[in-house]
Amino acid sequence: MNTQFFSVSDPRDPALRTVGEILRRGGLAAIPTETVYGLAANALDDCAVRGIFRAKGRPADNPLIVHISDYSQWAPLVREIPAQAKQLADAFWPGPLTVILPKSDRVSSVVSGGLSTVAVRMPSHPVARAIIDTAGVPLAAPSANTSGKPSPTTAQHVKDDMDGKIDCIVDAGPCSVGVESTVLSLAGNKPRLLRPGGITPAMLERVLGSIDIDDAVFHQLAAGKTAASPGMKYKHYAPKAQVTILKGSLQQFCEYVDAHKTPDTLALCFAGEEALLPVPAIAFGNEADGKSQAANIFAALRDVDSRGAGQVFARFPQMDGVGLAVFNRLVRAAAFHIVEL
Ligand code: TXA
Ligand code: MG
Repeated sequence: MNTQFFSVSDPRDPALRTVGEILRRGGLAAIPTETVYGLAANALDDCAVRGIFRAKGRPADNPLIVHISDYSQWAPLVREIPAQAKQLADAFWPGPLTVILPKSDRVSSVVSGGLSTVAVRMPSHPVARAIIDTAGVPLAAPSANTSGKPSPTTAQHVKDDMDGKIDCIVDAGPCSVGVESTVLSLAGNKPRLLRPGGITPAMLERVLGSIDIDDAVFHQLAAGKTAASPGMKYKHYAPKAQVTILKGSLQQFCEYVDAHKTPDTLALCFAGEEALLPVPAIAFGNEADGKSQAANIFAALRDVDSRGAGQVFARFPQMDGVGLAVFNRLVRAAAFHIVEL
């Protein structure tokens, strides 16, 4: 398949009409959002949605997020919109929050991965919103990476994974948040955070009162346990190299790396530390600045592969605020391998 490229900076760009047309007739389009690039298809067209799973190599039981650009598109997708869901939408939509509710019959089991619930989000990226508008249908869109690889935060990342497999890629520059949306389930008794993201637990609790945080946010799923969010049971964000997170001071980090380095060792560090390390290093944002780490972590993980690293030692990100999302992604890239110095 010949993949078309569109470079767009203005949501009124006429090229977006072509993208809307591609989506309406059942095609696949990689689109920018404020979090990461998404691989979109008409959420109401099972045949189109199956194409997403094929292009990504995604397991069929891992459900997709449905993207809307207007509140009126939400009610038809769910059984009802409870008060808490409304409050969340008022506070955080459009933006990087996904809300899970029991699904209506209009959402097929292809989209929901066989679950009785559906995840919905209204992105804030003006180009994403314009594409949903011109398509005129809700769009199912997972991150536009090959399953298991780090999520794409630039159109070049998407091209590296999807060229020749999808109809088009819309380039609107790098994503500002850099990690995928916060996923919150309102389908159980108490609101439950399934995936941390740009909307932090503290922000959610300001609206909802206390929430539960799913165990899988911090820990590897125990063998035989069912994941609340199927995506959490799969290998994720993993570069080819073996990644180890080192918890300690910069000096302890340098000493450990020096003692354990091999010719293909690389360090993932904070900005400004590169020159102090005994091995080549890639920075993923500023120390104690979760937002800048989120914006850079996936590009850094992709760089690790392009630089041919075999062993990677990473600095431990702070776990509060958006930092929790950075930790959650990095600890999966490291297959939960953390060494306390
Ligand atoms: O920021 C984002 O959310 C990006 C952009 C493109 O919007 N999308 C994204 O989609 O990250 P994806 O498919 O890569 O991640 C969706 C996650 C998966 O872990 C999936 O298992 C979970 O959300 N999920 C989706 N629907 C669910 C449901 N009904 N119940 C539980 N988990 C669900
Ligand atoms: Mg993904």
